Amino acid sequence: MSRTERPKTKLVPVPATNIIPERDVSLPPILEARHLGIDFGGLSAVSDFNFAIGRTEIAGLIGPNGAGKTTVFNLLTKVYQPTRGTILLDGMDTAGKTTIQVNQMGIARTFQNIRLFRDLSVLDNVLVGLHNETKYTLGTAMFRLPQYWRKERIAKERALELLSIFDMQDMADHKAGSLPYGAQRRLEIVRALATNPCLLLLDEPAAGMNPSETSELMDNIVRIRDMFGIAILLIEHDMNLVMGICEGICVLNFGKIIAKGTPEDIQANPAVIEAYLGKKKEGQ
Ligand SMILES: Nc1ncnc2c1ncn2[C@@H]1O[C@H](COP(=O)(O)OP(=O)(O)O)[C@@H](O)[C@H]1O
Ligand SMILES: [Mg+2]
Repeated sequence: MSRTERPKTKLVPVPATNIIPERDVSLPPILEARHLGIDFGGLSAVSDFNFAIGRTEIAGLIGPNGAGKTTVFNLLTKVYQPTRGTILLDGMDTAGKTTIQVNQMGIARTFQNIRLFRDLSVLDNVLVGLHNETKYTLGTAMFRLPQYWRKERIAKERALELLSIFDMQDMADHKAGSLPYGAQRRLEIVRALATNPCLLLLDEPAAGMNPSETSELMDNIVRIRDMFGIAILLIEHDMNLVMGICEGICVLNFGKIIAKGTPEDIQANPAVIEAYLGKKKEGQ
């Protein structure tokens, strides 16, 4: 189905002033943040952040530079421990968990500034993600027992399969750092997917992409959601992308939510136009 034919999502209320797509309400939200906040020194970078994401939702987090969007990702992935509030992943409290533990629980992310192992091959970058999943005993890995090689072969096949989502399987042997910029961003998404997430966080995935790459990325984000049946939360300034594929959108300004709703709600919201959309049109 092309973008223009996509059915409109109906958002319905779930507890704590949140909304998720109607098709996801039979199960608890994949993520729920309640009264989440963090202070840096005297500055409250994020406060009273309440947001839920349905299990197969594509959700958007938007707002001006410095609004606190990346900080929200850093809170969800435990790069920072919150000063206040609760984060539930699939109904489970993630308080006290580490970044690695929440990744194993099912949150994967990409970064606003690409973070790949530039000197490793494309394939090895994906294998790093998969090894979060593949468990060996130390003995199996040290002595390279048959079980090790079998798992390595399966991991390589899986890595190539994941690369083929973006038609990148032929680049498997290239150095990650030698790829064009857009391909590096796509590789980061593949590496995140390799950790088998239930929630994928994308921090400005279209940054630096040309319009045709962005349009392809939009289709691929929807395809990934459909293929894996996962939720995706993305931060993005490209409003064609956000309004084209996000179902629920949350707008941050100075660390606070100023609006939540469907793309239609958000585009018509005077506070959002004042704080963000209007300024973007003037070329912010
Ligand atoms: N580790 C930190 N220490 C101090 N201030 C921080 C830190 N991380 C983020 N901030 C501040 O929090 C605010 C929000 O930043 P950020 O989340 O990166 O915004 P956005 O992603 O919306 O552009 C900014 O004022 C930023 O300077
Ligand atoms: Mg940011």
